[in-house]
Amino acid sequence: MKRMLLFILPVLLLVSIAFTVFGVFQVRYEEEKQLDEIKRKAIAVNESLEFSARHILENNDLKNANRLVESFQRRERLQGCVIYDKEGRVLAVTERISDWGRTAKPYTSEILVSKTPRGAMEKFGDYTAYSYVLPIKDANGELLGMVEVVYDTSHVLTTIAAIWKRVSITLISLLVVIVLIMLLIQRQIFVLPVIRLTEWFQHFQRGETDVSHSIKEEDELGKLASEVEQVALSLRIARKAVSEKASERLEKEELWTEAKLRDIIHVRLGENALYMVSNREPYMHVINEITGKPECIRPAGGVVTAIDPIMRACGGMWIAHGAGNADRQFVNSKDKLGVPPEDDKYILKRVWLSKDEEEGYYYGFSNEGLWPLCHITHTRPVFREPDWQAYKKVNQKFADSVLLELPVKNPFVFIHDYHFTLLAGMIKEKRPDTTIALFWHIPWPNPEVFATCPYQEQILEGMLACDLIGFHVQMHCNNFLDTANRLLESRVDTEAFKVIRFGKETLIKAFPISVDDCTGHDSSMEDLQQINNLCKEYNLENTIIAMGVDRIDYTKGLSERILAVDRFFEKYPQYKKKFVFIQLAAPSRTHIKRYHDFAGEVDELVEKANWKHSEGDWKPIIYLKRHFSQEEIRPYYLMADICIVSSLHDGMNLVAKEYVAAKKDSNGVLILSRFTGAAKELTQAIHINPYSIEEFADSIKSAIEMPAEEKRSRMAHMRNVIRINNVYRWAGNIITELTSLKKI
Ligand code: G6P
Repeated sequence: MKRMLLFILPVLLLVSIAFTVFGVFQVRYEEEKQLDEIKRKAIAVNESLEFSARHILENNDLKNANRLVESFQRRERLQGCVIYDKEGRVLAVTERISDWGRTAKPYTSEILVSKTPRGAMEKFGDYTAYSYVLPIKDANGELLGMVEVVYDTSHVLTTIAAIWKRVSITLISLLVVIVLIMLLIQRQIFVLPVIRLTEWFQHFQRGETDVSHSIKEEDELGKLASEVEQVALSLRIARKAVSEKASERLEKEELWTEAKLRDIIHVRLGENALYMVSNREPYMHVINEITGKPECIRPAGGVVTAIDPIMRACGGMWIAHGAGNADRQFVNSKDKLGVPPEDDKYILKRVWLSKDEEEGYYYGFSNEGLWPLCHITHTRPVFREPDWQAYKKVNQKFADSVLLELPVKNPFVFIHDYHFTLLAGMIKEKRPDTTIALFWHIPWPNPEVFATCPYQEQILEGMLACDLIGFHVQMHCNNFLDTANRLLESRVDTEAFKVIRFGKETLIKAFPISVDDCTGHDSSMEDLQQINNLCKEYNLENTIIAMGVDRIDYTKGLSERILAVDRFFEKYPQYKKKFVFIQLAAPSRTHIKRYHDFAGEVDELVEKANWKHSEGDWKPIIYLKRHFSQEEIRPYYLMADICIVSSLHDGMNLVAKEYVAAKKDSNGVLILSRFTGAAKELTQAIHINPYSIEEFADSIKSAIEMPAEEKRSRMAHMRNVIRINNVYRWAGNIITELTSLKKI
C-alpha cells in the first residue's frame, strides 16, 4: 500500500496543480468579463441620463431630480443613482442607496476639480459595488454638478464561487477515477498474478497440485514465477527423497533418535508440518535489568525442556504466548521468528495477550484454579467467573491464531497442558478435519476432586474434542477415564481406553515424557573449567555436593527439602563442613500471592537452617535464586554427587531425568519423591516420601554412604531406561498413534 501511495500521490498532485491553475485562469477571465460588462452598462446608463441631469441642475429642479433617482428603485439588483450639485452636495439619491449618498467620498471633490468621468470599484457596507461618476457641464463647459450610477457586483462573486465549486467537484471526481483506475491496473498487472502464484506455491508445496502455475508472461513477473517454480520443485523433490530414505531407515533403526523421529514425521505426516501450541514459549526475549539490553532466555519448565528438542529435530511451528517484555522487537509482521536464535530450526509464532487477559487466563484460571486442582498439595483451587471468561477468550484467541496457519489438507495440531482445555473444540468447530492431540503435563485428579471445578463439563467437553489425550502415567489416564465416565454423559471403552461421546472417540493413553538423550558428549574442557570456577566460588573442594533445580513452586517440596537437610545435620553432625546442598531456584508465577508467600517461606527456612548449622565460612545450604540457563545448570549436574527431587506431586519431573542423562560417568545418586511420574520409571533412585522429614533426612545419608559400585549400577540402570525411553520415543509414539487415528 505504501508503495502504491508513492506511485499514485505524484500523479494526483500533478493533476491537482493543473486543475488549480486552470481554475485560476477561468476565474480571472470570468471576473474581468463580468466587471467589463458592468462598467459598460454604467457608462451607457450615465450617458443616457446626461441630458435630463443637465436640465435638472440648470433649473435646480428638485422634483424631477427625485423622480429621476427613484426610477432606479424599481430595478432588480442593488443599483441606484445620486445627483450632486456643483459644490458636491447630494441633491437627490435613490432610496435604497441613501446610505451611500450620505457617506462622504473623496473622489467627488477630485471630480469637481478635474471635471472628468470616473469609474471604479467601491466598498459599500458589506457589498462591493461599481460606481461611475459623470460630471455635467453647461454649453460653456462650466460644471453644473455630477451624476453617479452605482452597480451591485455581488453576482460577480457568486459566479466566481460557482466556477470554483464546479472546478473542485470535477477535480475530486477526476482524482477518484484516477485512483480507482490505478488500483485496478495495479491489481490486474501485479496483485492478482502474485496472489495466483502464492496460492499455486502453497498448493504445490502441499502436494495438492502438479500442474504448473498460470503465469506465462516473459517479463519480470514471469521470471520471478519461474524461479518460484524451481524452488517449489526442488523442495518437493528434497522432501520426497527425505521421506523415502526415512522409511528405509525406520525399518533398520531400533533406538529412538532425533533422526528417527524426523523420519517418522516425514513418513507419517508427509508434507504436513506439525503445529505445537503451548502457553509458555520456548525462547523468550527479555530486557536484562543490569545491561538494559534485550536477551533471549529459555524459560524453566518441563514443557519447554521436552518439546524444544523435538521441534529442533522436526521443524514446524510452535504457537505460544509472547510473554517476554522485549518479545515484540524480534518478530516479523506476522508475529513470527525463527528459533533457536541464529539457528532457525523451526518457527515460533507469538500470540499477544493484554494484562487483563494474562491475569485472568494465566495467573487466575490456569494457575490459581486448574494447577492446584490437579496437584495434591493441599492448596485450595480458586475459581473466579471473570478468570473463566478470560480463559475462554484467550483459548479462542489461540484458536484463531492456529486456524490462520493450518494447511488446507489434514492438519495436525499438538496442544500442551492445562492452559488450553477448550482449544481443540474451538479449532474443530472451524476445521473438523484437524487431527488434534492434547498432552497433559501435570497430574489428573480423581473424579471427586475434579467435580469441585464449577466448569467441569465445559472443560471435559473441550478436551474430548481431541482425538488423543496423553498423560505421563497410567494412573492419570485412569483418573481421567473415571472422571469422564462419572461427570459427563459419555461411554468409556475400558478395553480400548477410549471415551466416546456423541459418536466422537478420544483415545486416552500414557506416554511418559523424557529428555533428549543420555548418549551426549563427555565432560568437556569447558565443563571442567566451569566446575572448577564453581568449586572456587563456593569453596566446594573436597565437599559432598547435593543439588536441586526447581521453579519456586509449592508443588516441588522445597520446604520439605530444606527441613530434611536441616534434620540431616541435626541427626548426623559428622557431615558438617563435609556436605553442602545447592538449590538453584527459578522465581515463578510470583504475581500470585501463594507463590510470593511461598518464596518468602523458603527464604526463611534456608536462612534459619544456615544460621543453625553454619560453622566459620561454611554453610550447609547455598540457595541461588534466579533464572539459570540449561548451559549454566549443566556443571551443577556434573559436579553433584546427589540430586534431590522432592515434589509433593508431579506429572513427571524432568529434572530427575536430566540429572541421570548428564551423568555419563554413572557417578551420582538420585533421591526421588515417589509422588512424581518419574518414580515409576526410575526405580533405581532412592524413593522418598517428602512429607516424612525423618525418612528424607536418612535418605541423604544413604545416598552419601552408598557403595560406589551400587551407585554406578543404579545410575547405569536409570541411564538405560532414559536411553530407551527418550523424548524422541515419546514424540514418535504420540505421532504414530495420532496419525493412525486418522488416515492421511
Ligand atoms: C509446568 C507446566 C508447564 C509450564 C511449566 C512452567 O511444567 O506443566 O506447562 O510451562 O510448569 O510454568 P510457567 O507457568 O512458568 O509456564
